[in-house]
Amino acid sequence: MTAKKLYIETVGCQMNLLDSELVVASLRRAGYELASSPKRADVILFNTCSVRQHAEDKIYSALGRLKHLKRRHPHKIIGVLGCMAQKDQRLIFQRAPYVDLVVGPGQLHRVPELIRQIEQGSGPKLEVSLDRTAGPQAQVAESFVSYDPLRDPQMRPTPYQAFVRIMIGCDKFCTYCIVPKVRGPEQSRPPEHILAEVRRLADEGCREVTLLGQTVNSYKYRQGERTVTLAELLERVHQVEGIDRIKFVTNFPLDMTQPLLEAVRALPKVSHYLHVPAQSGSDRILRRMKRGYTVAQYREMLHRIYDTVPEAAVTSDFIVGFCGESEEDFQQTVRLVEEGRFKNSYIFKYSPRPGTKAHQLYADDVPEQVKRRRNNELLAVQNRISLELNERFIGRQVEVLVEGPSKAAQKQAQHGEGPLQLCGRTLCDRIVVFEGNLRQVGQILPVRIYDATPHTLLGVVVTQHVGPEVYVLQ
Ligand code: 5AD
Ligand code: SF4
Repeated sequence: MTAKKLYIETVGCQMNLLDSELVVASLRRAGYELASSPKRADVILFNTCSVRQHAEDKIYSALGRLKHLKRRHPHKIIGVLGCMAQKDQRLIFQRAPYVDLVVGPGQLHRVPELIRQIEQGSGPKLEVSLDRTAGPQAQVAESFVSYDPLRDPQMRPTPYQAFVRIMIGCDKFCTYCIVPKVRGPEQSRPPEHILAEVRRLADEGCREVTLLGQTVNSYKYRQGERTVTLAELLERVHQVEGIDRIKFVTNFPLDMTQPLLEAVRALPKVSHYLHVPAQSGSDRILRRMKRGYTVAQYREMLHRIYDTVPEAAVTSDFIVGFCGESEEDFQQTVRLVEEGRFKNSYIFKYSPRPGTKAHQLYADDVPEQVKRRRNNELLAVQNRISLELNERFIGRQVEVLVEGPSKAAQKQAQHGEGPLQLCGRTLCDRIVVFEGNLRQVGQILPVRIYDATPHTLLGVVVTQHVGPEVYVLQ
């Protein structure tokens, strides 16, 4: 009997990439193999994102393209997973009546069983968590199950790197954001579970873990009288033998505590890369976004970061064109980007999300072309700074965890044993491209940088043999 085939497409954040990895692993255990296109697959899954309209549009048009395939092959199972499944629920069946399966991010553990039921003729299945206002907090929280089954190293882009979920959900309720609604209440995983997962990953050869949470530095797990924080969790993950690098994303500015920054400085395996979205440089807009801090507080936090961890690579997110954003508000954001010296910033045009406070309270009154212009202007400022920061690395030596062939090498489909362009990342999450050999993937190599672009460092591997080992000159 030939194995059943699975095709999956993922959009969205790292949490979604992790969810897809885990769903695929569970279906492989149930006998599925991956297929390269929907045509070749028995089960077609979309793991979706709701953070902006554009992400949803992409999924609905991908579903639209499957209409005829499903008509010709009615036995194929089409499923919509993740945030858009939780947000749109039955609406997905209305817009695409040939969809068989809709599963929210808090119910992903049920996917293999639901597919089995559909195969046996159950008809369409909808499995979502409770709405946040549907009942008592504890009951709602219980309906969002953290999905952390056994891992499968083959399912990751490289077996040397892995995401590890340390918490689910979000309780910040920024007015523009759909995440608290679709990913549910903030719930931290027990430290023992996280450590067991990290140890297992290390045993399988993983060298770098990225701890994930919507507001990862809000991590709190009560154990009797004590509360374990992210700072303590980092110390414990740091002790796991075999793990050489630890990152964590995404941080919330107000939860960037001094003990956390001191842990980052004190623990050599912990990356000095800190993603702490500011969203805006205007107090008026931050208030409307209900971010809970002022620009002065964000600046103070930045100073604390750079004072405690001088080499820190800080990155940020910004939303341009939020409801009521004036030119003056926007210029204040430009000033924050200029002062912040971010390694890079992710810049988004505001996208109204039904179900959020901003959508309910404020008009989406900044015209699209103004949003676009502000987006481009802010990006240009950030790119100039990214280049300046990257140029400082020219002539320096960095340690790079080699991830695999660079994008250019992948396009040219270079294979074989000869030298090829590889890419990897520094401890500060800077992308480095250099010439190497496939067998170096998964190693941490010393690389000397000779050139830079805003988002990439170019280098050569330093091979200085002293006895049998390679020493890194720092
Ligand atoms: N419109 C545009 N960008 C958004 N983000 C979240 N919600 C919206 C929205 N409605 C951005 C924020 C967040 C990132 C993941 O996506 O900047 O940090
Ligand atoms: Fe959304 Fe704000 Fe929570 Fe981030 S902190 S996930 S922007 S609500």
